[in-house]
Amino acid sequence: MTGHSEGGPVGAAEAKRAADAVRERLGVKSPVAAIVLGSGLGTLADKVTDATRVPYSEIPGFHAPSVVGHKGELIRGMLGGREVLMLAGRFHMYEGHSAQVAALPIRVVHALGARTLFVSNAAGGVRRTFKPGDLMIIADHLNLMFRNPLIGPAQKGEVRFPDMSAPWTPRLQTLLEDSAREVGVTLQRGVYAGLLGPTYETPAEVRMLERMGADAVGMSTVPEVIVAAALKMQVAGITCITNHAAGITAAPLDHSEVVEVGARAGVAFCAVVEAFVRRL
Ligand code: HPA
Repeated sequence: MTGHSEGGPVGAAEAKRAADAVRERLGVKSPVAAIVLGSGLGTLADKVTDATRVPYSEIPGFHAPSVVGHKGELIRGMLGGREVLMLAGRFHMYEGHSAQVAALPIRVVHALGARTLFVSNAAGGVRRTFKPGDLMIIADHLNLMFRNPLIGPAQKGEVRFPDMSAPWTPRLQTLLEDSAREVGVTLQRGVYAGLLGPTYETPAEVRMLERMGADAVGMSTVPEVIVAAALKMQVAGITCITNHAAGITAAPLDHSEVVEVGARAGVAFCAVVEAFVRRL
């Protein structure tokens, strides 16, 4: 399936259908975590051993990714000695997908047995001291997409009014800090603002985000984490700061820079996530 997906319901039933279609083919047993790979951070997929891969084009309700830096595969395999599920590529709302479609893969990995979610993404640095290549633990987020994947009928097995006082599990943030220390990587910590995109921000918007308490700005992740909260999953995440947000420096923004910096920060990113998974 390709193209736009505003419209029909995409909830727990659709997730079950997708999970049922891939469970045996992937050979899923009891994954300790599902990991979402963001723009340019796909190299972690190459670290998975004993891997089984299913292209998104073969999963009911999934879409082929249209963005450079996103592969489009659901992977099961071993990382840091533990079984993981990996979503290499995501569905963005700026591609025309509804918030429900953007969050569908999370319902699928939950149906496949994952109870811990690790998300990664690329974002612009709003905090002035952030530099391209910095990695940031996501401590909290701002939903500035003004969409919510839980709008619609209540889904079986999900909380109707999820508590959002700690969607980014504090214990897992500590585990990330410990993992980073172990492998000698410095992690920043901050608030991720999710905007719809696909335009990058104006300098005035970045100043607004700064005053609102954002440290980084990107175009994904928020719908996924909202669904994870409704499913009572434990959630952790790392943002790769690929550029200064607009207006922080005079440089114009370019997607190829985002992918390039992501790839350079990839070594540190992979080391931290592997150490993190080993500790789960
Ligand atoms: N803004 C929004 N999304 C992004 C950016 C940015 O500056 N960089 C990478 N993803």
